[in-house]
Amino acid sequence: MALVSGASRGIGREIARQLAQQGVSVYAGVRKQKPTAFSPDRSSTVSSYREIELDVTQAGSVDAATSRILEGSGRIDILVNNAGVSDGDHDALQLDPDKFREVMDVNVLGAWRLSEAVVPAMIRNNYGRIVNVSSTLGSLHHLNRPSEPAYRISKAAVNALTRVFATRLDGTGILVNAASPGWVRTDLGGPNAPRSVQQGADTPVWLATLPPDGPSGGFFYDRAPLEW
Ligand SMILES: NC(=O)c1ccc[n+]([C@@H]2O[C@H](COP(=O)([O-])OP(=O)(O)OC[C@H]3O[C@@H](n4cnc5c(N)ncnc54)[C@H](OP(=O)(O)O)[C@@H]3O)[C@@H](O)[C@H]2O)c1
Repeated sequence: MALVSGASRGIGREIARQLAQQGVSVYAGVRKQKPTAFSPDRSSTVSSYREIELDVTQAGSVDAATSRILEGSGRIDILVNNAGVSDGDHDALQLDPDKFREVMDVNVLGAWRLSEAVVPAMIRNNYGRIVNVSSTLGSLHHLNRPSEPAYRISKAAVNALTRVFATRLDGTGILVNAASPGWVRTDLGGPNAPRSVQQGADTPVWLATLPPDGPSGGFFYDRAPLEW
């Protein structure tokens, strides 16, 4: 059983689709459910793909979504913290505190809230894979351009969150890793990005399905370690 946040479109939707195609039962977290039933690919034989309402900034929404899944199945084996927003091109010398709070609330606290909500069930089941969709823009090593300051800081925090959770959950059977999808053609990435959503989703899906001896506490791009 997998839960993917921010799966209404973009990379999250593709991560959910690829997991479902691998036979994983997937809950695609969306802020607003559409009136008609959603299928990621109506021609495919994807059997278990459901949408569930999930706004990661709302504790009540996080509780309601995770409780509903756990009441139904007793487990969430995979959590992909994918929901993300950016402050866009923004001068780091002109802080917009409200924008900064919004970006941190979705990207960092959202991932934290959702992880906290699913970890107890993962511990009970001695199994879990948590994937935080981060960004190369959040790598301190690569943090050498001034654009999107709130977004970059938030993704650096997502990387730190990954290490904190990986350390906290060491030995529990739960592997926690961060992934950079690269620059991907989505609403967030824009039309000029060189990578497709399929390419962007590949590393998160790989991390979501790691074997028991897989890494934990790492940061990966194209299935290879990336500098923090
Ligand atoms: N595209 C890139 O080049 C790129 C590069 C590096 C990292 N990333 C990361 O990849 C992830 C996905 O990005 P994307 O390019 O697919 O972006 P996108 O197309 O803009 O999609 C963003 C997703 O996040 C959801 N979302 C926003 N706020 C939310 C909230 N409060 N609660 C739940 N869901 C929320 C959106 O839902 P709604 O439809 O309801 O708005 C949407 O499903 C993000 O974490 C992003 O930072 C992207």
